[in-house]
Amino acid sequence: MCGIVGYIGKKDAENTLIEGLKRLEYRGYDSSGIALVQNKKMFSEKAIGKIINLEEKLSGKKFSGNVGICHTRWATHGKPTKENAHPHFSCDGDIAVVHNGIIENYQTLRDDLKKKGHKFLSETDSEVLPHLIEDFYKGDLREAVLKALKCVQGTYGIAVVSSKNPDEMIAARKGSPLVLGVGNGENFVASDVAAILGYTNQVVYLNDGEIARVASDDFQITDMDNQQIKCEINKIEWSLEESQKGGHEHFMLKEILEQPKVVVDSTRGRLLPDEGSVKLGGLEEVEEDLRKIEKIIIVACGTARYAGLVGEYMLEEYAEIPTEVEFASEFRYRKPIVDERTAIIAISQSGETADTLAAIREAKRKGALTLGIVNVVGSTIARETDAGVYNHAGPEIAVASTKAFTSQLTVLALITILLGRQRNMSLDTGKKIIEELEALPEKIEIILKNKVDIKKLSEKYSKYSDFMYLGRKYCFPLAEEGALKLKEISYIHSEGFPAGEMKHGSIALIDEDFPVVCVAPKDSVYEKNISNVEEIRARKGKIIILTTQGNKEAEKVADDIIYIPDALEMLTPILAVVPLQLFAYYVSSFRGLDVDKPRNLAKSVTVE
Ligand code: AGP
Repeated sequence: MCGIVGYIGKKDAENTLIEGLKRLEYRGYDSSGIALVQNKKMFSEKAIGKIINLEEKLSGKKFSGNVGICHTRWATHGKPTKENAHPHFSCDGDIAVVHNGIIENYQTLRDDLKKKGHKFLSETDSEVLPHLIEDFYKGDLREAVLKALKCVQGTYGIAVVSSKNPDEMIAARKGSPLVLGVGNGENFVASDVAAILGYTNQVVYLNDGEIARVASDDFQITDMDNQQIKCEINKIEWSLEESQKGGHEHFMLKEILEQPKVVVDSTRGRLLPDEGSVKLGGLEEVEEDLRKIEKIIIVACGTARYAGLVGEYMLEEYAEIPTEVEFASEFRYRKPIVDERTAIIAISQSGETADTLAAIREAKRKGALTLGIVNVVGSTIARETDAGVYNHAGPEIAVASTKAFTSQLTVLALITILLGRQRNMSLDTGKKIIEELEALPEKIEIILKNKVDIKKLSEKYSKYSDFMYLGRKYCFPLAEEGALKLKEISYIHSEGFPAGEMKHGSIALIDEDFPVVCVAPKDSVYEKNISNVEEIRARKGKIIILTTQGNKEAEKVADDIIYIPDALEMLTPILAVVPLQLFAYYVSSFRGLDVDKPRNLAKSVTVE
């Protein structure tokens, strides 16, 4: 997820653009860049890292312009380098483009453009855009952009300027958000209203398949067939602070609500339904090595490790590969039996967790193949593993991990299909899992629509000081994750156990002041879970059961019920975790705590 800002008007664009870009830094900050047009000349600057680095490079520069675009990058293709930073330019340097999204057919387009003599400077998918526009450019910038976008498969939110067309900016959207800001004698383009709220609260939201020609005192929007679109101007009521969270009170809630889209983004371009298999570009070069793998060790910390525990069940049941999950912080002190037939899967949202990195280095010393499931492109773990799969979940700002977790589970399911179909998984089974993956976003939306019920439940239970979470098989790791979510943002003592383990001692804790959340979908171990629930009720424990929609019998044994849609057992955790995230979020909110920045914690633990 990247940040885009464009400006055209009477003022010097540079300051307006940089100030707007700073308000989008939460969307990604591994590099940034700016392009300005003045007197039919193009000026640009780029920098790695946070936007302040770009600002420093610009200070003292003697260039300005009243039309310009800028970009802060969340890398998807190509490391965070200056060459890969946006804007990207046409060969003649006269056309500049900033892009948010993924161009799935960029390799084909790049090859065709190279054959026509275009020279590429970056590894990014985005750079095909300025060259494609240049190829179609005959004086009308909007027409050239329109023709170029008709060649593109994938998603985009773009802004384009040209030194040959200094009185206009072109914007277009398909799958990535883009908004026009309507000013007085000036107009804006941005990925998010946060960038322009300081200048105007009048906005027009671009829809997918729309393209806008923006001048300083006018703009026209059409569809891709040049049909004029009636523009509806919206007045933004949000404060600037709220707007960076999309109008939500906290980043955590925004990220919980993004999860339907995250599952789509984590699978985008990777599903091969007809073959009942998947295409994981980041594993292509090691696919033959993966055929020889006889053991998998998953190393991770915290929430990422709980995703690994779900992956353990997936890989053993569907890929039939012996799998174990290790605390990354412990793995390096053991004498792990690791060799070239072992694959290490390191799961890390930040890609910078010191313990996980240390585990990878230890495994590499012993000759293991190391794979990463990482969200931050170009992060250390992404660079140090032999291969890997990016989450494409977008920046996760809240310390408590939510959308990264569901993306990790989604990617683990993709890897399970890949490895399973190399082994004994049938075409039908592969197709079934893919079909179920494609159905998940809608099912998550159903859960999110009922979030007010979770909010009521959270208020009822927000006063307790102890919780136990239980689950079995695929949902045992959810007991751990649910407990972690609650403890890390509400500071309530909460523990997760395999449901069968509870009677071996921990049940001594149960009384009427020790509520228990039992994650018990109607799956292969449901009856066993209900037996544990009965044991707890016999000791006056309060029970919240999370189960499958329509399971009315659970109402006989539960004090409160949370329903989720039915799904394939191996994918149910992706649904079941959402109410647990919401429960923790609302309990913390009711306790008046800093949900996004809980005490004692950091988003990325880069120390051992
Ligand atoms: C999860 O909510 C916590 N923030 C923490 O457990 C986190 O999952 C852990 O530190 C691992 O981080 P990583 O995924 O960036 O490696």
